[in-house]
Amino acid sequence: MTVVSCWSAKGGSGTTVVAVALATMRGREGDHGALLVDLAGDCPSVMGLPEPIGPGVTDWLAAGDQVPSDALGRIEQQVSEHVALLPTGTAAPEGTDRVAPLLEVLQAQTRHVVIDLGRLGAGSGALPAVAAELAEGAEQSLLVTRPCFLSLRRALASPVRPTGIVLVTEEGRALGRREVEDILGAPVVAEVPIESAVSRAVDAGTLAMRMPRGLERSLRHAA
Ligand SMILES: Nc1ncnc2c1ncn2[C@@H]1O[C@H](COP(=O)(O)OP(=O)(O)OP(=O)(O)O)[C@@H](O)[C@H]1O
Ligand SMILES: [Mg+2]
Repeated sequence: MTVVSCWSAKGGSGTTVVAVALATMRGREGDHGALLVDLAGDCPSVMGLPEPIGPGVTDWLAAGDQVPSDALGRIEQQVSEHVALLPTGTAAPEGTDRVAPLLEVLQAQTRHVVIDLGRLGAGSGALPAVAAELAEGAEQSLLVTRPCFLSLRRALASPVRPTGIVLVTEEGRALGRREVEDILGAPVVAEVPIESAVSRAVDAGTLAMRMPRGLERSLRHAA
């Protein structure tokens, strides 16, 4: 099944919202549900879940070859009827050589796989190299960005080229879809409007449980 990675070049772009929404939507399709891999740490909160306890994907990455690949299955938690979550964990796996094996396990899934990689690029979080390698390795690498000059400049400087762009839009922006595609050289696969139904659902932790219709509609063809 296709592995979809979601990432941004600037913080607060809407990456976690898009990743959680995509996993929820894809999870409802077919018989196998979806696996949401959280490398950035905010997915449980957006889904209204308590902070996961126990190991996560970063611990698996940092553990070395002695930990079998099926240990990942024991780390994941079923968080809704159709979505299982692979939580972030607490290790710092920079320098790990286990990204390729992780991608192999994810690509072998019969479920849809969505990864929230957070922000890529210089000065980003604890996992820049690991996240960039996962973004490169996923079949679909979705950059979530606002149509704003500062975000686009960061995206251009990012170490990864996206296969598609999810544009989080608001009224009154000077840059439109066409300009963003020209600047970044990738297609806009979805335009997600900023709307209060989404921010309210995020704050209440109900995004996955009661997905705002507009969000679902706008992401229908994103991945
Ligand atoms: N479509 C939207 N409409 C309204 N608010 C939104 C939308 N998408 C995201 N937001 C709000 O923007 C904020 C940032 O969203 P989110 O956490 O998904 O961004 P992020 O790119 O994952 O941020 P970070 O860099 O911290 O990981 C949140 O408060 C969220 O409620
Ligand atoms: Mg996030």
